[in-house]
Amino acid sequence: MSATTPMNRTTDQLPQSSPSAAPIILPPPRAGFGVSLARALAARRSVRQFDTARALSLQHLSEMLWCACGVNRPATGDRTAPSWRDAREMTLFVAMQAGVWRYDPISHQLMPHVASDVRPLTGIQDFVALAPVELIYVAERMHLANLSVDEQYRVASADSGFIGQNVYLYCASEGLGTVFRTSFDHSPLARALQLGNTQFITFVQTVGYPGASASPSRVSTAQDPAAVASCIGMKK
Ligand SMILES: Cc1cc2nc3c(=O)[nH]c(=O)nc-3n(C[C@H](O)[C@H](O)[C@H](O)COP(=O)(O)O)c2cc1C
Repeated sequence: MSATTPMNRTTDQLPQSSPSAAPIILPPPRAGFGVSLARALAARRSVRQFDTARALSLQHLSEMLWCACGVNRPATGDRTAPSWRDAREMTLFVAMQAGVWRYDPISHQLMPHVASDVRPLTGIQDFVALAPVELIYVAERMHLANLSVDEQYRVASADSGFIGQNVYLYCASEGLGTVFRTSFDHSPLARALQLGNTQFITFVQTVGYPGASASPSRVSTAQDPAAVASCIGMKK
């Protein structure tokens, strides 16, 4: 699929149809979104039960991807997440019911990739096929060309972890649920994504709104500074 004229979505919803030839321009992140870092850290947790009837808003998708590995220094193209020697070897593919898009941090757009629903291939746990978004972390060996294969895995895993924690903190601050996962079968997913032999998948990460029976945050932090204080052992 080739990228041509950008498409400016007018609805605040995830795409309902398969990737067309046009990229999706994500809305800019709101100024000052989210709660304080202390509250986000206190609320961070893994969620494995999702409201499958509720699509992620395009605004949440935009901000989540910007937090993950978006550009925070436009003059240099540097990112919200660090990477070994600024290699920027990680690409996030965004799998949704309608297909898979590739996040382009520079243009902050979703580029159409494949038109099939690969979510069932992103894991063996029951929630993966129905949660609205699966992030697939793909490393490019060409960006790590002077490293041994073991070192490539080590670097790509570390760099993925930084991105994953950024996603965790955004989700915690906006009431979204997420879980970073290693439980997937690499080959079928790589084939479905049509990856080249210089690319490999490090992790996947589910994102959506928590379901009604998702375990509550151990500390309710959204409205309650005292809860944060008690969580981190501070006096009020
Ligand atoms: C490298 C890594 C791999 C993980 N793989 C999975 C996984 O495959 N499935 C899953 O449900 N959770 C997975 N998790 C989430 C952990 O189980 C979770 O972070 C841990 O139980 C602590 O819970 P918390 O995140 O709520 O603090 C993974 C976490 C990390 C850091």
